Amino acid sequence: MRTPLLAGNWKMNGSVELVEAFGRAFAEAKLPEGVEVAIFPPFPYLDAAQRTFADTPLQLGAQSLNPQQSGAHTGEVSGSMLCEFGVRYALVGHSERRQLYREGDEAVFDRLLAALSVGLSPVLCVGESLEERDAGRTMEVVLRQVSVAMSRLEPAQRARVVIAYEPVWAIGTGRTATPAQAQEVMAGIRDYLASDNPELAEGLRLLYGGSMNAGNAGELLAQPDIDGGLVGGASLKVDDFLAICQSAG
Ligand code: PGA
Repeated sequence: MRTPLLAGNWKMNGSVELVEAFGRAFAEAKLPEGVEVAIFPPFPYLDAAQRTFADTPLQLGAQSLNPQQSGAHTGEVSGSMLCEFGVRYALVGHSERRQLYREGDEAVFDRLLAALSVGLSPVLCVGESLEERDAGRTMEVVLRQVSVAMSRLEPAQRARVVIAYEPVWAIGTGRTATPAQAQEVMAGIRDYLASDNPELAEGLRLLYGGSMNAGNAGELLAQPDIDGGLVGGASLKVDDFLAICQSAG
C-alpha cells in the first residue's frame, strides 16, 4: 500500500501570516488515516514553518536546492542547509525551473543526487508541453525525463524518489488533465519503471500536479496510479488545501 502524499507548492507566494494560518488550521484538522501532507514554502519561511508546524501533521519540503554542498554560489541554498530546518522533501525539475531558469535534464539529475546525498526525498517533476501533447509525444517526453533521472540511480536511491506528473499546459492555467488523461500517463510511468524493477515500481509514489483543486481532487486521487497531488494555487488557501487533503482518504 502506498502512502498518499499531498504536497503544497507555494512557489514565490505566502507570508509568515500564511504559515501561521496553516499551523492553526492543521493543528485541529482531522486528516484521513495514513495521509502525508507537506508544505513547500519559499526558503525564508522554513524557519517559521518548522516551529509553527511542530504541533501539526504538516511536513516540510523545499522548492529547489543547489547541487553543491557549500561554496561561492551567491543566492543559492544547499541540501544540508534545508535539513537544518527539518525539511524532508525537495522539488527537482519543476517545469518553472526547467523553463524560466533553464534547468535541463543534467541539472535536474545533479539536484536529485544532491537531495538524496543529504537524506532528502526528491520530488521529481516531469511533464509535457501542449505542443508536445498535440504532436502525440507525451509519453516519449515524460519517459525521457523519468529515465535520465532514474536510470543512473541505485535501486535504494530510486525507492526514495517521488515522481510528480505535471502536464505543463495544466500548471496554473485552471485547465486540469482529466482523470483518464492523468491516469494513462501515470500508469505508463509505472509500467516503464516496472519493466526494470516491478517491486520498486509498485512502491513508488506518483503525484498528479496541474490545477488540482478542491473540486477535482477526489476524482483524480481515486485513480489507481495517482498516489497524491502536487498543488500550487489551491495550496495557498487553507480551506481549499485542507479539503484536497481530506479527499485523499
Ligand atoms: P497549480 O501548480 O496547482 O497552480 O497548477 C502546480 C505546480 O506547479 O506544482
